Amino acid sequence: MIVVENIEKHFGGLRAVNNVSISIEAGSITGLIGPNGAGKSTLFNVIAGLHKPTSGKVYLDGVDITGLEPHELFAKGLLRTFQVAHEFSTLTVRENLMVVPPDRPGEKLMNVWFRPGAVKQADAKLRDKADEVLEFLKLTHVADELAGNLSGGQKKLLELGRTMMVDPKIVFLDEVGAGVNRTLLYEIGDAILRLNKERGYTFCMIEHDMEFISRLCNPVIVMAEGAVLASGTPEEIKSNNDVIEAYLGTGLKNKKKENA
Ligand SMILES: Nc1ncnc2c1ncn2[C@@H]1O[C@H](COP(=O)(O)OP(=O)(O)OP(=O)(O)O)[C@@H](O)[C@H]1O
Ligand SMILES: [Mg+2]
Repeated sequence: MIVVENIEKHFGGLRAVNNVSISIEAGSITGLIGPNGAGKSTLFNVIAGLHKPTSGKVYLDGVDITGLEPHELFAKGLLRTFQVAHEFSTLTVRENLMVVPPDRPGEKLMNVWFRPGAVKQADAKLRDKADEVLEFLKLTHVADELAGNLSGGQKKLLELGRTMMVDPKIVFLDEVGAGVNRTLLYEIGDAILRLNKERGYTFCMIEHDMEFISRLCNPVIVMAEGAVLASGTPEEIKSNNDVIEAYLGTGLKNKKKENA
């Protein structure tokens, strides 16, 4: 579904992403792991249109999407969530979902004046959709709560819920499990698995928790120092010496010395 070819992203002299080529199969839950500063979020930002790459190409279903704006990618069904949740804290949980779809007739002033019925109908539909999403995520009990009052984990679930409002093709999750307690983490994992199996969503997710990754992801791609270090099944990755060394912070540097 996604093909990333020779992506480079430099910030001044720093090669945050250094010649990365990966592909994400339709229907997969692909994991992206690696030590802090490995370039994972930067790669996501390039794919999802927040950063223009220094060079390289990104394809979605064979179509070149390199450098498209986030809203253009959104319209093509490519969505992302952020490492730090960004809910509208003064709107209710349900309202946070209802503001997602980009083509709400209610926002077009002409419609409000000339076709108020259409607006009401669309809002009722949106509300039903939002309620369905809340039920799927077991958040119905907080539907009318201000989003700012949710727990960290519930905010992450709400982030996931926002993607469900538009039935995406592929969702990029940046540390959706970070700072979330064990119970809620399990539920988030469950929701992701159900969305994948029952609704055919493809996911690519950055995560640090290996247990969580192993439960959900196959394949797992490992980045270190801007480059892809390894990819394989969770089992292969866990026993890969390069990966273990990269996490211990000695691997790549020693290797460079060996090669020098
Ligand atoms: N906008 C930016 N301007 C300059 N440098 C940046 C920018 N964004 C990221 N970097 C740098 O690029 C490198 C990769 O950062 P990135 O956030 O992609 O890492 P990451 O793998 O997501 O790490 P973490 O696991 O800590 O989230 C880091 O050295 C970071 O400081
Ligand atoms: Mg990151």
